[in-house]
Amino acid sequence: MKNLFSVLRSDEVNDELLRVIETIVDASKEIAFRVRQGALAGVLGSTQDENIQGETQKHLDIISNQLLKDLLLANSAVAAIASEEEDTVVAGHEAGKYLVAFDPLDGSSNIDINGQIGTIFSIYSALDLIPHHSELQFQQQGQQQVCAGYVFYGPSTLLAITTGKGTRCFTLDSTQGNFLLTADKIQIAADTQEFAINMSNARFWNQAMRAYIDDLVLGETGPRAKRFNMRWNAAMVGDVHRVLTRSGIFLYPSDTRNAKQPAKLRLLYEANPMAMLIENAGGKACSETQRILDIQPQQLHERVAVILGSANEVDECLNYLRR
Ligand code: F6P
Repeated sequence: MKNLFSVLRSDEVNDELLRVIETIVDASKEIAFRVRQGALAGVLGSTQDENIQGETQKHLDIISNQLLKDLLLANSAVAAIASEEEDTVVAGHEAGKYLVAFDPLDGSSNIDINGQIGTIFSIYSALDLIPHHSELQFQQQGQQQVCAGYVFYGPSTLLAITTGKGTRCFTLDSTQGNFLLTADKIQIAADTQEFAINMSNARFWNQAMRAYIDDLVLGETGPRAKRFNMRWNAAMVGDVHRVLTRSGIFLYPSDTRNAKQPAKLRLLYEANPMAMLIENAGGKACSETQRILDIQPQQLHERVAVILGSANEVDECLNYLRR
């Protein structure tokens, strides 16, 4: 089986970008080890603190953030980092060429229940003439990403990654510590009969989103004339991984639960990297109004509605929203 770095080299990924990816992979192997040790490593439970977004921080959020931050900032190819757990951009090396945005531990509510969790990352080229600590560095459209991926800490530890030449999945061989290629050039089927959404928010969605989901639920007795199945992992890595594996549509629409915050998922380190992975596997990824990778970011921690997965089903959903 081919290992991660031989595949990346055959895709002509340059040495500096390779070093950045290697650092993320090294940190994720450390995180995977701690996840496996669970309560034995003292990583479960919450801290007394909240992050900038008002969410309670779990011990594993903090540990994962620190591991990624320390290793990335020690890498001379890294110009700056942005993390879900950091209020502001953290500058790296003067001569660094790359920016890394990451959600160190996605699906935090699953930590204590031994459920699915992951690390999501996104890499951009640093911009000339802008200080590395400036938020402006990260105000690049998702289509500028040079690499995106996630590490999924499930029954096995998986890495899904793209540098723009297809989306591939690697499995961590824990006997050797290498990620080995287990799914090459993934293709998401254009049609699907499986959707993922947090149905408990239904009353807060707009009318059009409710109409779309109502018709999925009606199955063969409704206008879609086919039966749909529903899944919800409460961890974007788990839901997106299922879509990459067997197709589907994943939705986190805007809602009216909190007037100040109509969307939940973060553009920089959740929506953008997942959109790049999905598009490179032949799927589609949109907000309620545009392609996610075309969005011009305005703020570091901005949020966006997400509809992604099987191309025809994403189009179908957008048709309801445009009616
Ligand atoms: O913050 C992100 C996240 O945990 C995603 O990984 C996941 O898709 C979503 O939030 C879960 O949301 P909810 O709490 O509504 O199930």
